[in-house]
This record gives sequence, structure tokens and C-alpha cells, in this order.
Amino acid sequence: MEKIIINGGKSLKGEVIITGAKNAALGILPATVLAKDKFIIENIPDIQDIKNYISILKKMGAKIRKEGNKLRIDTTNIGGYTVEEICEESTKMRASYYLLGALLGRNGEVELPLPGGCDIGARPIDLHIKGFAALGGEIDLKGSIKIKANKLKGANIYMDMVSVGATINVMLASVKAEGLTVIENAAKEPHVVDIANFLNLMGADVKGAGTDVIKVRGVKELHGCEYSVVPDQITAGTYMIAAGVTKGNILVKNIIPKHLESISAKLKEMGIEVIEYDDAIRVIGTDDIKPCNVKTLPYPGFPTDLQQPMGVLMCFANGVSTIRESIFENRFRYVNELQKMGASIQVNANTAVFTGPCKLYAAQINATDLRAGAAMVLAGLAAEGTTQISELKHIDRGYENIEEIFKSLGADIKRVKN
Ligand code: EPZ
Repeated sequence: MEKIIINGGKSLKGEVIITGAKNAALGILPATVLAKDKFIIENIPDIQDIKNYISILKKMGAKIRKEGNKLRIDTTNIGGYTVEEICEESTKMRASYYLLGALLGRNGEVELPLPGGCDIGARPIDLHIKGFAALGGEIDLKGSIKIKANKLKGANIYMDMVSVGATINVMLASVKAEGLTVIENAAKEPHVVDIANFLNLMGADVKGAGTDVIKVRGVKELHGCEYSVVPDQITAGTYMIAAGVTKGNILVKNIIPKHLESISAKLKEMGIEVIEYDDAIRVIGTDDIKPCNVKTLPYPGFPTDLQQPMGVLMCFANGVSTIRESIFENRFRYVNELQKMGASIQVNANTAVFTGPCKLYAAQINATDLRAGAAMVLAGLAAEGTTQISELKHIDRGYENIEEIFKSLGADIKRVKN
């Protein structure tokens, strides 16, 4: 089993270049099966979820060649596959379920295993199913997910909750449906917009992505295209918060600062200097961190994927801070790991109360999910002594070379194989 070993206490200084957004790339890859054509997609992050997706698509018959962070994909011959063949990769991530909308749009039918993903709550797929049914799909959930539609027809679909996944899945299923589909209460995340932009480059007619209402007018055929994935605002935010946690000075490059407005605002509220450029943000830490309150919300609110790294920063604030997690019901499992390191945190239902400032002491800790794993790395970077982090498979799903990047910023960090 691999571990990350960190000798903490160093202020991180330097530059980080952000790569493509995991949650955009994981919607763009399945979207390619909506056409029988060739694609070139750049700025693909080199992470485990992407490797799994490439494996699934190859098993389905796609031809895929990786050239650095560029993928050449040919989906002309996507043919038969069995659920068993793709079960292993599909159940290791959430985003495998985008193949439901994509294959439904391509073939009018699909069967997939139930998705996996971080254990941060029940994560039902009722809104996805509601969307597919509204478009004319007949759904069978006995053991796997089977959907069949004689003819996909546009529909008005109201999302009871803002759901990134359901919004994307309905977009994928509706781009070749007959007529107009209206998605109300749609998710507005940058990766939703990126996937809509990709679909439009394929010849789809998707309007309103990034607003509460997305309108998709079905087209007969889609075609291949060349595209570059939007930068990952979640990994960018992680490195911004790392500058605050280590009282460092980090320039986060190749980003869209607007996508990080909620993080920049919170860091400034905590007395941390944030300097915005056209495609970069510099964060300069301080000894006098002010407490703050965060409530996670759908974009453009504070992203749930950064509440765990933000929790580490709150440990060092001079006063009481709170996080209210309004998106998932089980996203505070990292608190136990921080308490092992000396943090003073109380969790009551969906609110965590952080009493700072506190010293974090090195410990043997675990990554409980993807973003909690990143939070554990931040805690180790700040803690006195040698921290050991296990369960790295969670971190590797979404962070590319995390220890190399922190090493380049001056951290004493390495990955060891047990
Ligand atoms: C996506 O998950 C991301 N994953 C998550 O990132 C992210 O935390 C989440 O969006 C919120 O931004 C990918 O994009 C692969 P949701 P998703 O549907 O689509 C409930 C990471 O760290 N809901 O927006 O699963 C759901 O239970 C991962 O990169 C239903 O009730 O999130 C949750 O409470 C972790 N029924 C809320 O909606 C449904 O049918 C938001 O979930 C669907 C969702």
C-alpha cells in the first residue's frame, strides 16, 4: 500500500499550473459516443478516473490514443459490451453514469452497472431517472440500470434539487431527441458549461448553460471536433487554500479567476491576500487568519468540493469558524482525522464548528474520500512533525502528481510504497 509522508511546517512558495477539470473531462469523454467520428481533446488531466474512463470506452470499441495531455478518440465503432466487462471501472467512479445519457442518445438503449464514487452521502440518481423517463425512456433498475426508448422526444424537466450529474446526463440524452428539451433549475458549474460548449462544437444546439434554464433543441446527427478542457477550479482552489494553510505565497496559473470568486472572497474575508490576474491568482498567507463562516452551495456559491480543504484552514483561524454542508449529508468524515492531529472541531448534523487557532501535530491519517484526501495533505503540510497519509487511491482519482507539485513548492513530501 502506498503512503504519502510529509515533514510539515514549511511555507510553500512558487507556481502551480492547473490542468483540465476532472468533472468536465469526465462528461466530455462519454459525450464523444454521441457521434461516430474522430475527436482531439486537449488539457485532459492525468488522473485515475480518466484512466478508468479510457478503459471503459476502449472496451466498448472506441479507439483512443494518449499523447501527453491530448487524447485522440475515434468512436466510429462503438459496439457491443457487457455490463460485466465494464463493471470494475464503472463502479470505481460516479461519472460512469454519464454513459447512460450518451449511449441512450446514440443507440436509444443502454445498460450499465450502478455508479460508484466518493462515500459522501446517499447520492441517489432519481433526478437522472426522472429526466430519462421524461424523454421517453423505459427504465429497469433490477441489478443494473437498463434504459430503452423507442424514440427520444424533448420534454420539460424540472430538477427538484440542483444536480450537476442529472443536468449533464439529461443534456447528453436530449441533444439528439426530437424537439425541445427544457431543463429547469439546472446546475451552473463551469464544467456543466464546458460540456455544453463541447456538445455545441459537435453540432448540438444547447442554449443557456450556466443559467438556471438550459434549452436543448434536438439535432439529427453530431460529429467529431477538437476541444480543450476548461481548467479545474477545484484543484486550483485546493492550491490557493494551501498557501493560506502554510502561510506561503503561491501563484496558481492557467485558471479562470471568475470560477474561483467564492474561494477568493472567503480567503480575503480571512485576511489572506488574494491578487487576481487574467489567468492566474496569487495567494499570500498570513499569521493572523480571521475566522469565517462557509455554507456550501451550488455554483456560484462556495463549492462543496472545497469545504474539506477550507476546514483545515479554519483550524488556524483566530476564533470560531463554521462550515454548513448543504449539498451532501456525509462530508465531514475528515474531521475525525483532523481531531487526531489536535484540531478542535464539533460536528452537529450538517454543520462543523472549528475553534482556532490550534496547532496540528503529525499523525497517521487516512484519506476518506477524494477531497478529504487533499485536505489531509494540507493538514500534513502545516503540522509539526512527520505525517503519514494512507488510502491514496482516493486522492489519485482527482489530483495529478499532488506530491510532485507540493515538492516543487518547497514541501518535504514523498510517496512511499509499503
Ligand atoms: C458532482 O457530483 C461532482 N462529481 C462532485 O464532485 C461534486 O461534489 C458534486 O457534483 C456537486 O458539485 C462529478 O462531477 C463526477 P449532484 P454529482 O448530482 O453529480 C443529490 C469531486 O470531488 N441528488 O450535483 O453526484 C445528491 O445526493 C466530486 O470531484 C439527488 O438527490 O452531484 C446531492 O445531495 C465529489 N438525486 C445533491 O443532489 C439525484 O438524482 C447534489 O448532487 C442526483 C443528485
